[in-house]
Amino acid sequence: MHRYIARHGEQLRLSSRSMGSVVRRRRALPSAFPVLDLPIQPIFRHVFEANLRNSSACQSKYMELMEKVRKGGGEKAIARHTQRNRKLLVKDRLRLLLDNEDFLELSPFAGLGLPYGDIPSAGCLTGIGRINGLWCVFIANDATVKGGTAYPITVKKQLRAQEVATQNHLPCIYLVDSGGAFLPLQSEIFPDKNQGGRMFYNEAIMSAMKIPQVSVVCGSCTAGGAYVPTMAEEAVMVHRIGTIFLGGPPLVKAATGEEVTPENLGGARLHSEVSGCVDHFALEEKEAYECTRNIISTLNFQLPEEEEEEERNRVEEPLYGPEELLGLAPRNYNHSLNPRMVVCRLTDGSRFQEFKARYGTTLLTGFAKIHGHLVGMVANDGELSHEALLKGSHFVQLCDRRDIPLVFLQNTAPGPMETLSPNQAEVNSNRLKAQASMMSAVACASVPKITVVIGGCHGVDSYTMCGRAFDPNFLFLWPNARVSIVALGHGGSTLPSSGEDSEDDKEVEEPWNERLAEESTAFFASGRLWDDGIIQPQDTRKVLRDCLDIIGQRQYRLSTENLRSPLLRI
Ligand code: COA
Repeated sequence: MHRYIARHGEQLRLSSRSMGSVVRRRRALPSAFPVLDLPIQPIFRHVFEANLRNSSACQSKYMELMEKVRKGGGEKAIARHTQRNRKLLVKDRLRLLLDNEDFLELSPFAGLGLPYGDIPSAGCLTGIGRINGLWCVFIANDATVKGGTAYPITVKKQLRAQEVATQNHLPCIYLVDSGGAFLPLQSEIFPDKNQGGRMFYNEAIMSAMKIPQVSVVCGSCTAGGAYVPTMAEEAVMVHRIGTIFLGGPPLVKAATGEEVTPENLGGARLHSEVSGCVDHFALEEKEAYECTRNIISTLNFQLPEEEEEEERNRVEEPLYGPEELLGLAPRNYNHSLNPRMVVCRLTDGSRFQEFKARYGTTLLTGFAKIHGHLVGMVANDGELSHEALLKGSHFVQLCDRRDIPLVFLQNTAPGPMETLSPNQAEVNSNRLKAQASMMSAVACASVPKITVVIGGCHGVDSYTMCGRAFDPNFLFLWPNARVSIVALGHGGSTLPSSGEDSEDDKEVEEPWNERLAEESTAFFASGRLWDDGIIQPQDTRKVLRDCLDIIGQRQYRLSTENLRSPLLRI
């Protein structure tokens, strides 16, 4: 694919290489958006304090779960992994691979509270970090969790990480240390489209899209696990630690009676010298990660100019400290939240160029910069009116035309639309069409989208605000977020009524509300991987910066062919 630009009246054909240099010479237009100076008003203090108390409880839960997942499969399994098997823990592997501590972990709480138990971090760590300055996606099995075997949630998490790599064109690095499928749940892992085999399919498709696939064999790659390194473009294998085979020594003994060591059956020597399944032999783990860093250096990317990085570091900070966001994280819907208060605590210099400020006021739209990245912000507080939805459609399409990434701050309303009068019915019908219009605008916008659920994620408005089904590049939840079709206390009117005794209705409603209370928490949602993780409100600006940097990396690729995604084919 070649791109053309018009210069001095002639069509100048640019090779991919010269495109890269044009990109690097670009300079953003100067901007001086108005400052949103919105301190916490005394009248809002009691709401702020109540939100703060709720945030503090959510934070304790967050820390408690973080501690739990950091222990992986527990002390015994860690001792077996590090002492008997002489392997490094995932966090130490990443420390050797990455440039620094900057690592955007995805969905650390995935796997907690599932019907088949707690699977810490779904048995694998995924996230995005930098090697030699280049953002890469990492998918690393945690062998302390049942030998790194894949549960259904593990497969889902790995596929999501591959999707992130595909959508954002990030090299994908697999640290394989897995006993293959978790056999008791094999029927939920093996046969369907988005199950085990999809990972290998994705590797092939991503590679065809020129998204590099690199694998490090730093443990068992048994059965299905064997195909992750063999499908990769380049693989490194660690001596005495890495093994690749379809069936291990016990299976060979059972089938043929032959005794064979793992090393002779499928060790690093065999696969680097005889089968050719891997490309690099490493004597120890450290050497394997050095080798991987060198492999990344061979990718056809260039980094941003230093001045560009420096310019980004010189940005104005918001007027208020990020901790204030903890008091703005809504505890419930009894008090409305002015989304401008959140926006001005996230944007450079608290600046915001509002769009259609006087129209459809239940939705806030406008332009801002986050660490120098120009973004279109779409933030709501509760139900979106007909006008708000039209405004949203307009703004989303506008950003799409201008190639500006969208950031959605979602706080959608809890209750179902009530139709108590013909007038109300007409209002609802009009809203329906406007909702469809905004959903269509969001679905069709080809610009990157990032969604942060800062309060409620309920009903159809959650789709208009770019919920998971609308394929944002990233979707995060604040710990106070609630995710359900209807919210707590709002289910009553939708449940079938006995029509006679209100006591009977209460009996139906109470267990329903209890269930909803449990099933709508951010932690329940994140355990099931309906998002890319829970982030602390005070970290939101940093997470948005990382996401925007990650999304923007694509422009530094020298070869731009085949950036179309076959994975997005239905
Ligand atoms: N399904 C379910 N559980 C498995 C498993 C599998 N495929 N592979 C390992 N486990 C469990 C073990 O039962 C053990 O559970 P426990 O801690 O409750 O006792 C735990 O994972 C760790 O296994 P263990 O064998 O004690 O650890 P190890 O470090 O010595 O070896 C493996 C890890 C993965 C190399 C080894 O367990 C193995 O070869 N497993 C079989 C792999 C296989 O045949 N997979 C086929 C999948 S189709």
